[in-house]
Amino acid sequence: MDRISLLTNGDQSFSFRIGESLSIGREEDNDLQVPDPKVSRYHCVLEREGNRMFIRDLGSSNGTFVNGERVSQKALSGGDTIQIGESTLTYERTLDINTRQFDEGTDGSRPHGMTVIGKNDFRMEHLTDLYRADFTRRDFRRMLERLSTLFEIGNIINVYRNSESLLEAILQRIIRVIQADRYFLLIRDEKDGTLHIATRYPEQVGDTEISSTVLKTVLEEGKSVLSTDTLHDNRFLEAKSIITQSIKSVMSVPLRSHEKILGVIHVDSRDPTSLFSRDDLKLLTAIGINSGVAIENLRLYEDLKRLFRSTVKSLVAALEANDPYTGGHSERVAEYALRLSECLELSKDITERIELAAYLHDIGKIGIPKEVLNKPGRFNDQEASIMRRHPAIGHDILSNVSGMETIAKIVRHHHEKFDGTGYPDGMKGEDIPFESRLLCVIDVFDALTTDRPYRKRLSHEEAIKIITSLTGSHFDPGITEGFKRCMAHGPMES
Ligand SMILES: [Fe+2]
Repeated sequence: MDRISLLTNGDQSFSFRIGESLSIGREEDNDLQVPDPKVSRYHCVLEREGNRMFIRDLGSSNGTFVNGERVSQKALSGGDTIQIGESTLTYERTLDINTRQFDEGTDGSRPHGMTVIGKNDFRMEHLTDLYRADFTRRDFRRMLERLSTLFEIGNIINVYRNSESLLEAILQRIIRVIQADRYFLLIRDEKDGTLHIATRYPEQVGDTEISSTVLKTVLEEGKSVLSTDTLHDNRFLEAKSIITQSIKSVMSVPLRSHEKILGVIHVDSRDPTSLFSRDDLKLLTAIGINSGVAIENLRLYEDLKRLFRSTVKSLVAALEANDPYTGGHSERVAEYALRLSECLELSKDITERIELAAYLHDIGKIGIPKEVLNKPGRFNDQEASIMRRHPAIGHDILSNVSGMETIAKIVRHHHEKFDGTGYPDGMKGEDIPFESRLLCVIDVFDALTTDRPYRKRLSHEEAIKIITSLTGSHFDPGITEGFKRCMAHGPMES
């Protein structure tokens, strides 16, 4: 079958078959679309007549050149060079693109069927496939799926905020675009550097014996490895699973974030008719880079979150340190909030919000005069009115911190009552943020079950009795019911 090849910088960058005819031009309905302003919309056509192939210029502005000579029509011979705009094509009678698929990028020292891609070798060359005349709708859909997977992984950090779900999401996206029998995400321990399988598919597959030579190439040299002939590849000699499970084709690529190798993506296949290609290796290498950056970003985000929480805890503990009665109140409320959220199976986001708001719910007390705040007895009306300012003061403090607007709102409304008689805004029912309604129950529960200057602490049962009596007026009935259920099952007991 005759073929035409595009030359880029003197090298053949792709090749495809020519059927009976092939039209070339800038418009997308040409068989070969060349998006070059120097190429006419319908520039030229190659047509078979008998056993010969002719090229005909279609009245192009800048001309069609064969071996440097402008032509209107010419019979082509094998090896002829065709110049159209900035593109150089060669006409060949026989060349099967598949014969060169795994020869590229190898050198004499590498085993048969092995390709290694280094960081600097990576290019999205397969984008040039868009110019292939035999590029089908299916190829196009597959390419779009691959590109969208890369894009998704690049943005995945905005969706997944814990490493377990992030790694699972990455694995699922690899499964979507790479056809393999087994998939492994291995993560390197940050302390001792050892690799462990973080997630795999299918789940029931046991630990695999991945060649240490391959892992060394991936981890130490940061290179991607492809083998399409594992049984004759001396790097897999010690990997028993290759032999016992008849694995034919293997790809291992680094999970890379800049210069740091965080782990390895490893896939393998037993199907001898479906060997991994160089394009697969390029795609998996790109996924390894995007995933590595996402994993590293999540680690930085989690470190930052830990630092922020410990700072908040220290700040709140320092504020409460001088009060023998309220000392530890916010930390206990946060602990109850966490347990109640988990017992009620609230989402991770809501749980995190409630826990943080619990730590900070009384931060506004920083603006209450000490003589009122530390008064040993009950408040008179004026003192009570001053104390009631603390949720609004807390809101003002937190709403000035970027990213804390939601927490500020939860804090503002933690003394609202379900019947609308609370403060500061007299908000009613479900207008009160859910997190504030939940916090309200826990706040009162902790206050009732700790000593106060004017009374001794109540037992949990007595506190629950009081909370029950105030359900519907002070507290949201749904939350009270959930709270009591969780108390009854013990997860709230400290
Ligand atoms: Fe409060």
